[in-house]
Amino acid sequence: METVVVATTEEGLAGVRDRLGELGVLGIDIVSPGETRRLALAAVDDEWEAERLTVALRAEGALAVTRPGGGARLEAWTRSTRPITFGARLSVCFAWSEHDRAGLPGVLELGLGGFGNGAHPSTRLLIDELLHRITGGERVLDVGCGSGVLGLCALALGASRVVAVDLKADAVDATRRNAALNGMDGRVEATIAPLGEIGGAFDVVVANVGRAAVVELAPELVRLVAPGGWLAVSGISSSQCALVVGFLGPLVELGRRTSDEWAAVVLAPRERV
Ligand SMILES: C[S@@+](CC[C@H](N)C(=O)[O-])C[C@H]1O[C@@H](n2cnc3c(N)ncnc32)[C@H](O)[C@@H]1O
Repeated sequence: METVVVATTEEGLAGVRDRLGELGVLGIDIVSPGETRRLALAAVDDEWEAERLTVALRAEGALAVTRPGGGARLEAWTRSTRPITFGARLSVCFAWSEHDRAGLPGVLELGLGGFGNGAHPSTRLLIDELLHRITGGERVLDVGCGSGVLGLCALALGASRVVAVDLKADAVDATRRNAALNGMDGRVEATIAPLGEIGGAFDVVVANVGRAAVVELAPELVRLVAPGGWLAVSGISSSQCALVVGFLGPLVELGRRTSDEWAAVVLAPRERV
């Protein structure tokens, strides 16, 4: 047995039930892991049937995923869909997570596609910087947005607007969908435009893109930091920090964080330091 999980809302539940019925599903369980989140769980005979249903539902825009029906695979799934909490103010979880959101601070949900769910150390390091440094009202540039997770976290912490860029169309699309999922679409502009085409200046620039891309994008990253703003780069190793900082002059290092072999460096224009 396998299970197809469709993430919806109280208002969307009747439509999802009807559609699953039309697709031949007989029994549906409903889980309510959050105030507004509803999950329709449809048990199906095997993984082929689950795949058929999931593909059909996704083609219609539904947030549908295939979940193991039981055993060790289900335990692994349950662990991998556990919400991630950052300090006392922020949590990130997949929309289809069955874990109870009650009591979690500032829940952001992520949907399908893109890259990055907050679990990777290089992302966590930047979320920690956002938690400590966002004061409210900032204009944020999320470079290499992946899923938009960093920009959405910044908004949840009080930033005002986000421009999110990525060279992959899937990442840009996922960022738009994730912004809408969290009611933040009016404050997020996601684009595949190269960084060189982004104008203006940002109070916060975050870039979890790895050493090579940081070095390649360094002049643009420096240009896009507003006076009084800051830049945080991640996806680099501790031993690469000095090299990366060298490329990001005239910005100067404000601080750095490490987690295992990963490091993130925060820099700012000299007058801010
Ligand atoms: C490690 S993922 C980070 C995703 C997300 N920001 C996070 O922290 O979880 C890196 C992302 O940067 C994007 N990327 C890599 N080089 C880039 C470049 N030169 N310009 C824009 N995006 C880039 C990749 O497509 C990928 O989505």
